[in-house]
Amino acid sequence: MTSEQHENVDPGVGPIMSIVLGHWKSSLLHTAVESDLFTFLAAGPANAEELSERLGFALPGAKDFLLALAGIGLLEVRDGRFHNAPVADRYLVGGRPQYLGGYLTFVRAELNPAWDGLTGSVRTGRPHNRAAREGNPYAALYRDEQSIESFLASMDLLNAGAATQLAALDWSRYSSFVDVGGARGSVAHEVVSKFPHLRGAVFDLPQVASSFAEHVAKLGGDVAVDFTGGDFFTDPLPRADVVVFGHVLHNWDTERRKQLLRSAYEAVNPGGAVVVYDPMITEGLEVPPFSAVLASLSMLVWSSGGGEYAATELLSWLTEAGFQPGTVDTTISGEDVVVVAHKD
Ligand SMILES: C[S@@+](CC[C@H](N)C(=O)[O-])C[C@H]1O[C@@H](n2cnc3c(N)ncnc32)[C@H](O)[C@@H]1O
Repeated sequence: MTSEQHENVDPGVGPIMSIVLGHWKSSLLHTAVESDLFTFLAAGPANAEELSERLGFALPGAKDFLLALAGIGLLEVRDGRFHNAPVADRYLVGGRPQYLGGYLTFVRAELNPAWDGLTGSVRTGRPHNRAAREGNPYAALYRDEQSIESFLASMDLLNAGAATQLAALDWSRYSSFVDVGGARGSVAHEVVSKFPHLRGAVFDLPQVASSFAEHVAKLGGDVAVDFTGGDFFTDPLPRADVVVFGHVLHNWDTERRKQLLRSAYEAVNPGGAVVVYDPMITEGLEVPPFSAVLASLSMLVWSSGGGEYAATELLSWLTEAGFQPGTVDTTISGEDVVVVAHKD
């Protein structure tokens, strides 16, 4: 088709309307999860009157709400009664192993309000998130237990692919590693499970300690992962053969990334390595993966100076810190790029 013909074909308003509706659909999802509707329905189906009575909804609007949830595939209606659709039954019922409530709470309470300020952030280059504007998004994020829990659950949803990838690396020549900003220990646990000769540790803010202990105990197995509480901008990192930074560098501006890599160089034993994973913007592509672009914008609105960077930029920061740039693996979970660099 020539560009002239292209201009004459009306694409219709469908693509734009579906973006508008996306916001409403996400309101339906968040309201249902906040009301614990799917958890209630896991015990058995109910009609609109019963659900309104039990969950404190007002008819007739509540019936439209339930029908709209059926419209987006989260409920099914049979003989006037509402049932969880299979996807809701698996991921949206509180207490089930694959429950996404923590992630959704983080999105609703933390990320979406930051995205609401996208216009300002795009104009000024500054985050909309107030804590980030004041210097540190974690200061407000770690304000209470529920917020910590929902954030850490979200991290585990986002690091599952990288955990598998890290556990597929060859760790046989190393005897210890520290996962810096390793959250509640899922990645470290997976690596030690696969390589039990390793002494694995997480270094993270002290507020994470109790969630870490609970989570690692729940993951079980005969696996020991230590926890050291501290601030990676003011404290030295624990010594180890390998230092890991997963989804950490993209939270911060270039100067602070370089500071973290210098601290890693101090902490890594001779012959050791640093491993970094982040979504990263792939070079050579005019349009990077959409997920990396969205991750970058999330950092723009939420973090203080963070964003996705190119693997080549990282290699130059690693060299500046003293490391020998090594391998770049772009074939990860589809979401992350893993970079490994060595210390002589
Ligand atoms: C985006 S999360 C990544 C978590 C995990 N590595 C992953 O891949 O899912 C960043 C982590 O850095 C930690 N963190 C933030 N600021 C820190 C600081 N100043 N010192 C130590 N850890 C910090 C957070 O608590 C959080 O666990």
